[in-house]
Amino acid sequence: MTSPIAGRTAVVTGASRGIGFAVSAALTAAGVRTWMIARRPDALHEAARRLGSNAFTRPCDLTDGEAVSRAASEIEDALGAAPDMLVNNAGLFPLVSIEATSPELFSDTMQVNVIAPFRLVRAFVGGMRARGHGHIVTIGSVADRHAFPENGAYAASKTAQRAFHEVLRQELRGSGVRASLISPGPTDTQIWDPVDPDNREGFPPRSLMLRDTDVADAVLWAVTRPVHVNVDELRLGHS
Ligand SMILES: NC(=O)c1ccc[n+]([C@@H]2O[C@H](COP(=O)([O-])OP(=O)(O)OC[C@H]3O[C@@H](n4cnc5c(N)ncnc54)[C@H](OP(=O)(O)O)[C@@H]3O)[C@@H](O)[C@H]2O)c1
Repeated sequence: MTSPIAGRTAVVTGASRGIGFAVSAALTAAGVRTWMIARRPDALHEAARRLGSNAFTRPCDLTDGEAVSRAASEIEDALGAAPDMLVNNAGLFPLVSIEATSPELFSDTMQVNVIAPFRLVRAFVGGMRARGHGHIVTIGSVADRHAFPENGAYAASKTAQRAFHEVLRQELRGSGVRASLISPGPTDTQIWDPVDPDNREGFPPRSLMLRDTDVADAVLWAVTRPVHVNVDELRLGHS
């Protein structure tokens, strides 16, 4: 059966590994021409090579606001239009007490998790609205509703991201442009490498975390609903 999104286009941030790579894999397999964004070109190109001819790359450091706007504009020029889907996935996850969080780390976390997504939405939403369809997916977190120690910068960014999504959803209601927040619990990706959760008390072992493909399945489900259905928010946790 042909996928309902075959032939569509997407931009996915943080696409070189983890959840962003799994989302890119799901979209390209469904026939979506997918522009993958991450910082390190080598890893990004290798990730895209694994996904075949529907995968395209645009290296960009999301802490650099001007670079984000340039990347958005180049992708739109290449497509001749705003993408059909934007998946704001890239995220920094510093696990540091508030006292030990440097202003630079706090700022970088806000840049990658909140301000770069805003810049991309701002770049593409007008074109989506004019066309009468589009879908903006935000990858949130359990931390967008729950406070955990050492999550000062992360929880602030994820809560801001959720609030931004909720406002966006209200502003887009009735426009044909959809907005979905997909908020996973702990998911076994390299984001956990500095934490080493298998050997640290208070964290779930990797075997009890979600898989990156579980989150990608949820994204694929949200973007393949009939056009009159908006998946406002999905929260995923390990059973
Ligand atoms: N894993 C979890 O437990 C979990 C749970 C809930 C929510 N999430 C959320 O899910 C999203 C993805 O997480 P993940 O676990 O897949 O992370 P990950 O494995 O660490 O991957 C992060 C991705 O973001 C890119 N990235 C990081 N900094 C960047 C920057 N400055 N500019 C551009 N790209 C950048 C990385 O590539 P480069 O390093 O090459 O830039 C990589 O592609 C995040 O928003 C995270 O908060 C994760």
